[in-house]
Amino acid sequence: MTQSQILSHRVAVREREAVLEVRGLDVDYGHGPDAVRAVSGADLTLHRGEVLGLAGESGSGKSTLAYALTRLLRAPGVITGGEVLFHSRPQGADAGPAETVDLLAANAATLRRIRWSELAVVFQSAMHALNPVARIDAQLTDVLKAHRRSMTAAQRRERAVELLRMVGISADRLRSYPHELSGGMRQRVMIAMTLALEPQVVIMDEPTTALDVVTQREILEELMQLRERLGFAVVFITHDLSLLLELADSIAVMYAGRIVERASAAELFRAPRHPYSLGLKNSFPSLHGERVRMEGIPGSPPSLRSMPSGCAFHPRCAFATDRCAEEQPPLVTPAMELLDGRGGKAGGPPSDRSSACWLQDGRHPAPAALALPFPPLPTTPGTETSVPSSATAQSAADIATVPLPAPTPAGVRPVDVAPVDFAPVDVASGAASGEPSGASSGASAVTPPLGSSS
Ligand SMILES: Nc1ncnc2c1ncn2[C@@H]1O[C@H](COP(=O)(O)OP(=O)(O)OP(=O)(O)O)[C@@H](O)[C@H]1O
Ligand code: SF4
Ligand SMILES: [Mg+2]
Repeated sequence: MTQSQILSHRVAVREREAVLEVRGLDVDYGHGPDAVRAVSGADLTLHRGEVLGLAGESGSGKSTLAYALTRLLRAPGVITGGEVLFHSRPQGADAGPAETVDLLAANAATLRRIRWSELAVVFQSAMHALNPVARIDAQLTDVLKAHRRSMTAAQRRERAVELLRMVGISADRLRSYPHELSGGMRQRVMIAMTLALEPQVVIMDEPTTALDVVTQREILEELMQLRERLGFAVVFITHDLSLLLELADSIAVMYAGRIVERASAAELFRAPRHPYSLGLKNSFPSLHGERVRMEGIPGSPPSLRSMPSGCAFHPRCAFATDRCAEEQPPLVTPAMELLDGRGGKAGGPPSDRSSACWLQDGRHPAPAALALPFPPLPTTPGTETSVPSSATAQSAADIATVPLPAPTPAGVRPVDVAPVDFAPVDVASGAASGEPSGASSGASAVTPPLGSSS
């Protein structure tokens, strides 16, 4: 992708139609003095046909956010603030009118109408969500019976066969019970059920985490091909940032219940603006280049009952200052995206990205690792710099590992490899001139991007 393509992508993203908007969503567990805040002020926009990744360590609030925005949160979970707007544009012959529904205010009948047919969810551990005593055909046709009343039994069966084929399972498995299928097949059945009514939005909470990487890749490739064909938008939740770098169009990173960075996958891949995103990126190993010591992010996420003051990440942050322990940084456009002449004030379209970190407020220069230019600057006048069209775990790790300033006692310098040189990369051939050491032919050249037909 060239610089001008990236800028036009930014414009296109802003001009694309939002299908789901989450504004200032707060979720608590418990009431009164015993309440703990699991999600705080979450802001997200999902555009039609987009894959929005939600990343973060265990306990950061990803599932709570998904349950809350679909109104499936169970006690003691309570939504205490915010707004979730679903801009429905039903398709098909018997489709209703386009409408905007405030999901947090919607009554039970409206929610019943929207769920599954327009907004569907694959929950964490969905593999165990199938009814163990019902055959697959009964479970698939039940969905159709409930939501497509005009269908005959023969049409429902035909659709069930079609759905199974769509996810790569032969029709002779229709009469199987879930325990007769492998874990990967059960997951595929869940995805087939989710897509049965061709929803506009699919929320997937760790849909493949329990599977081996080969099966995971197969399922995700199928999913991305289905998305291209059917056009649904996806909120994809995972703790695996490397997977999202490859899969998602844009990514929101969560920490301790807050979204701390939002960016396109390419921006997060090349130039993260938050120390936590940088730490997550540096936490997965490279298959290329020299062996390096992986150190990841020191410490562990805070308990909801004893949240650190100021920026919740400060006890683990190598860049923390006194201010970080006192004041909570807002999630705003990083100063360099406003001022660099390519992202906003100086003429270019404004950036869509944001970061909740005092290092990005423009008062002082941000550390080099968090101030990489994006789009990368051309190295030769008149030469446009390219970035890989699809990040992969391996190449992302190669590119992400840039030298950091000396760590504070609380922090750990992630890994020690050659500095990044954003020289042009020939994505098509995989050849790279001046690519970071070991990143050159990168897995993006070896492994086709998810969803590609090659
Ligand atoms: N029913 C509950 N009662 C009290 N606290 C809860 C409940 N469910 C979740 N929590 C807390 O809310 C926080 C967020 O949990 P959540 O399951 O949303 O995290 P997550 O990011 O999805 O984690 P994982 O990656 O492990 O699935 C955690 O601290 C968790 O302990
Ligand atoms: S605000 Fe401070 S502690 Fe928080 S991520 Fe930024 S530098 Fe680190
Ligand atoms: Mg979860």
